[in-house]
Amino acid sequence: MVHLKELNKYNVWDIMELSTEEEQERFIASNVWSLVHAYVGNKTSGAVYPFGIYDDDTPVGFLMLAYDYGEVCDDKNAPEISKGNYFLWRLMIDKEYQGKGYGREAVRLGLDFIRTFPHGKADYCWICYDRENTVARKLYLSFGFEEIGEDAEGDIDAVMKL
Ligand SMILES: CC(C)(COP(=O)(O)OP(=O)(O)OC[C@H]1O[C@@H](n2cnc3c(N)ncnc32)[C@H](O)[C@@H]1OP(=O)(O)O)[C@@H](O)C(=O)NCCC(=O)NCCS
Repeated sequence: MVHLKELNKYNVWDIMELSTEEEQERFIASNVWSLVHAYVGNKTSGAVYPFGIYDDDTPVGFLMLAYDYGEVCDDKNAPEISKGNYFLWRLMIDKEYQGKGYGREAVRLGLDFIRTFPHGKADYCWICYDRENTVARKLYLSFGFEEIGEDAEGDIDAVMKL
């Protein structure tokens, strides 16, 4: 069964070992970098949620969610919608486990978690992805995300009502 497990001192090492195909590296930061963002973000706001994605006991991917991204990260590209809303910040499935339905299940579980409003009520969840990332784009749009524009780097912002 696919489930999310918060990162802790036991499982963090397994999750940091996971990686994408080399040609996908332009689409996402490494898990180690994501954890740096999580650490700094949680120092300021406590609103970053890094998870391992598991199939039973097997680690297959990494998902990171956040609330009010502008507060957790000094990113000049943060869109207006990030204020007071949830962000599906990072999602990756290890190259060995891609194409088996884990990405879809992780988005579903991530949205379920967000809808528990762990950092307070919000109206929207948003995401940001490279316009050439056709697999991720199709996946997100199938959940009902709607594209609202692009940031200064040409990445697409998309949003869905919670
Ligand atoms: C994007 C990503 C998370 C998808 O995870 P995944 O487990 O491989 O995806 P799933 O198996 O759940 O498939 C989801 C959909 O994508 C399709 N898909 C998956 N891999 C595909 C591929 N290589 N080519 C075409 N379609 C693909 C599946 O057919 C499925 O579509 P459907 O549900 O309509 O049948 C994964 O490819 C990944 O980690 N990519 C690198 C990191 C990345 O780009 N992250 C997103 C950053 S915004």
